[in-house]
Amino acid sequence: MTAHPTGESIGGRKDQHIDIAARPSSLHAGETGLRRYRLRHRALPGRDLAEVSLRTPVLGRELEAPLLVSCMTGGTPRARDINELLARAARDHGVAMGLGSGRALLADPSLLPTFRTAARPRLLLANLGAVQLRLGLGPDDAERLVDMLDADGLVLHLNPLQEAVQPGGDTAFGGLAERIAAVVERLRPRPVIAKEVGFGLAPDDVTALLAAGVRAVDVAGAGGTNWASVEGQRDPRAGQVAAAFADWGWPTALAIRLAASKARATGAEVIASGGITDGVEAAVALALGATAVGVARPFLVAALDDRVDEAIAVFLDQLRIATWLTGNHAPSSLSPADLVEG
Ligand SMILES: Cc1cc2nc3c(=O)[nH]c(=O)nc-3n(C[C@H](O)[C@H](O)[C@H](O)COP(=O)(O)O)c2cc1C
Repeated sequence: MTAHPTGESIGGRKDQHIDIAARPSSLHAGETGLRRYRLRHRALPGRDLAEVSLRTPVLGRELEAPLLVSCMTGGTPRARDINELLARAARDHGVAMGLGSGRALLADPSLLPTFRTAARPRLLLANLGAVQLRLGLGPDDAERLVDMLDADGLVLHLNPLQEAVQPGGDTAFGGLAERIAAVVERLRPRPVIAKEVGFGLAPDDVTALLAAGVRAVDVAGAGGTNWASVEGQRDPRAGQVAAAFADWGWPTALAIRLAASKARATGAEVIASGGITDGVEAAVALALGATAVGVARPFLVAALDDRVDEAIAVFLDQLRIATWLTGNHAPSSLSPADLVEG
């Protein structure tokens, strides 16, 4: 297993992340802003609930709903068990799933079963920290990872605050856009998605990522899991630094609006994530311009309780009902006209 600069193993860190991220103390101090909007309720929705379909193409795949189980884990026996539950539920509901960072897998291919479990979701995405493209990994490694996992595409995560807070974290973020462009080129036609991890993408970031050729941006805005707080709970000194960032970043609702206005012109997709907890918030995110919605921590907590199948079913019921009650036949027809700011 690959050693981290501080001497700890990636696997040990990933298992700690699971326990800490599941605690309420890892939640962002600010709000996503999604609950500031209300969907325009219609008492005459104009069609039967059964006529509403959540089927949506995402990254070229027809899914049963525009939902992604966001990238979380892999690399340890515990991660394998969690991935098994998440992948089975994602497959059974016909939604997408992202895997956790594949950096450890590239270093130790024997970890493959902890990432690629028996169940295969309809859309499966590999994951790597974009900063690794400055630290020895390149387009060849990105392609090797996608091939090893038999994935449909690659998610590159951008986590500068998490790395800066973490003792010995990787903060070589200069010149990353060019390196992301090289990965896009190598993987084409397989999609590359760029995401934050809970502090949001600025409009300038979105512009740079779209210029690099990514097929989608996942805003991963503020209001859900706070990765500065997670790292702060792993180390007392990091905790002191993290304290000032409890409320940092672009609230998810704002990040979606800004990203959607940039992406619309290019045809790129916008995934909304960061603190989305239910299907009504998902409907608001879609009305604000997202093309799909990602959820991490709430599905992790459900998986730890062995009830992720039910959690996804409830989430999709909520999204279906909210879509219907606004007079829409599909989530893709939700628009800002369906929102009232309250
Ligand atoms: C336990 C855990 C591990 C995570 N590991 C990764 C990872 O390896 N790669 C990544 O891109 N994001 C990772 N994330 C971040 C999530 O994909 C997501 O962007 C973030 O948690 C915000 O979404 P949420 O508020 O729904 O949790 C992880 C999240 C959790 C909860």
